[in-house]
Amino acid sequence: MFRVYLAPMEGLADPPLRRVLCRHAGFDWCFTEFIRVTDEGLAAKALLHDAPELENGGRTPDGTPCRVQILGDNPQMMAKAAALAESLGALGVDINFGCPSRFVHHSGSMLLKEPELMRDIVAAVRDALKSDILLSVKIRSGFFDKSELPGIMEAVAQEGVSEVAVHCRTRRELYKKEALDWSVLAPLHELFPAVTIVANGDIVSKESADECFKETLCTTLMIGRGAFMCPNLPKVIRDGERPYDSLETLKVMREVAQEFLDMGIEREKIICDRAKQFLSYARLGSPRLREFFKRFCRVKTVAECFTMIDDEIKAHEREISEEE
Ligand SMILES: Cc1cc2nc3c(=O)[nH]c(=O)nc-3n(C[C@H](O)[C@H](O)[C@H](O)COP(=O)(O)O)c2cc1C
Repeated sequence: MFRVYLAPMEGLADPPLRRVLCRHAGFDWCFTEFIRVTDEGLAAKALLHDAPELENGGRTPDGTPCRVQILGDNPQMMAKAAALAESLGALGVDINFGCPSRFVHHSGSMLLKEPELMRDIVAAVRDALKSDILLSVKIRSGFFDKSELPGIMEAVAQEGVSEVAVHCRTRRELYKKEALDWSVLAPLHELFPAVTIVANGDIVSKESADECFKETLCTTLMIGRGAFMCPNLPKVIRDGERPYDSLETLKVMREVAQEFLDMGIEREKIICDRAKQFLSYARLGSPRLREFFKRFCRVKTVAECFTMIDDEIKAHEREISEEE
């Protein structure tokens, strides 16, 4: 049985987007954006803001379980943050050792160079969790080089950790297309039989998912940017559903903008930026959306945003009815 997760994506897979994508895609799990844990700790209010799913039994409205992803370098504070998430009803906690964001300094993927600190953070978080909620870790295949992966795995795949998701590029490789290497994962199953290895990186279609399953021997995949190119990708991969076409994808993008308004988030810049980011990835799967993006990236107001999307949807529907 295959499982497909929606990757954590800071500044992109935020609560409105998770609500819409999960509704369409049927993900087995989604993740919050990384939630920063500083030396001052994490306040419940901030956690509930970033993970509103906690007020719904830890799930998005369609029922998809949501894991709270935390990021930081202080084992005690990370442990407290995990315990707080658990006390507020989280169904799972994920530790971020994979994020190369320029806003992340001594945390995220920077810690891939420090296996001992990663080990301490994982152990502290694990010990802080009282119930058997799921604990997972997200890493890259190394900091400088993928030969570091077994050592990193040895530090994080401790007892009590159920899953390790691996973005199959090193920190140094950032998002370089040609650097992706799924082949690092297959040997891990035998070396670390107690954890489920989750494959991540450039899974954007049924074909790439099948290739990834074959090469990695993983049964669980994590999808980030591919979810915008094909918003029902998990159902395509798992259930053989037909992939959404560009018109359906555009309608999902409209739903995301509408979801911001429905959730009371009315800031023009955020809504316009999210719509542009959505389209910037969606266009990679569609020449038509590529053309639309060139015009859309100039929108400045929410009203303009909806008008352009609606006009594009109407034009698209007209063409389809003329063809029939
Ligand atoms: C805009 C953006 C934001 C991201 N934010 C996070 C994050 O908050 N936490 C994390 O662990 N990874 C983050 N990542 C990495 C993704 O979870 C994923 O590992 C990466 O995009 C590779 O998967 P993909 O090729 O399916 O997109 C982010 C990636 C992108 C593109």
